[in-house]
Amino acid sequence: MKFIAFNVRQDEQPYFENWSRQNQIEVKLVADALTAASLKQVDGYDGVLALQTGSYPAAMFEHFKRCGVKVFAIRNVGTDNIDLAAAKANGVLVTNVPAYSPNAIAEFSVTQLMQLVRNTTIFRQKIAEQDFRWAPHVGKELRSLTVGVIGTGRIGRAAIDIYRGFGAKVIAYDLYPNPQLQAEGIYVDSYDELFAQADVITLHMPATATDRHLIGEKAFAKMKAGVYLINTARGTLIDTKALLAALKSGKVAGAALDTYENESALFNHDLRGQKIKDPLFKELMQQQNVLITPHIAFYTTTAVENMVLISLNSAKSVCEKGTADTVVKIR
Ligand code: COI
Repeated sequence: MKFIAFNVRQDEQPYFENWSRQNQIEVKLVADALTAASLKQVDGYDGVLALQTGSYPAAMFEHFKRCGVKVFAIRNVGTDNIDLAAAKANGVLVTNVPAYSPNAIAEFSVTQLMQLVRNTTIFRQKIAEQDFRWAPHVGKELRSLTVGVIGTGRIGRAAIDIYRGFGAKVIAYDLYPNPQLQAEGIYVDSYDELFAQADVITLHMPATATDRHLIGEKAFAKMKAGVYLINTARGTLIDTKALLAALKSGKVAGAALDTYENESALFNHDLRGQKIKDPLFKELMQQQNVLITPHIAFYTTTAVENMVLISLNSAKSVCEKGTADTVVKIR
């Protein structure tokens, strides 16, 4: 059995190397992304590991079948960029890492909200200009806010715990409510109800074809004036054009975006000295009340170690037993 791992960063290498040594299984580490250009490198390997927001198309799984790759193990949770039907059709099992660290993402989303409501980036800018005045950037306390959590899977629940710790009122919406939270009466009955009540809306749901641009013009119209929006989930959930309009009108007081609908050409790339070609993103970057981060909510040492080890163990389990706890169910 031998594996090849793509998109491997320096900070992942020691975990790969230790696992490989301990398990006596060869793991070839490749820094490149898994694309049509790098695909031929998988020939001769039983398992392929990857971590990227760019797409994994049908042609990739057809190639896997031709050269005998049995398992495709992603080191992250989201599967929205994978042609799962093609994986199934070509007999390749896909595994993910459903819970590498829900807290990593939940903590980051709260961190970003705290920055927004206490105007820290505005004050940093003011200080750089030697403007040490307070007004008009008075902050808000979380216990004075109603936080609307959309998506109450592992990450959403970790976020709820943290927000409750700060004394915020938390409401939530999920198509598949969690029984314990339901018993606690946290859920509202619809997106619209959540939009109408929340001072903060934080997204913790997966992206599907049906929820593309869930947060768009119609949704913004139903929200409170001065709402804060946090997205550490998927960029496609937000219609960026509509968000820009809502920011300009003051409907949205601030947004923290760790994901962006066209991020794969931007995030985790070194574009220093280059012109940003995406006009929408350029405009987002110019907004004082938008905090952009390059999809790093997950990026903690705990999460990185779990992503590497769980994905490797999944690939090994599929090769040895034909299955793993983390196999993605494909309907
Ligand atoms: C995920 O786990 O799906 C993430 O969003 C992390 C990212 C590195 C792809």
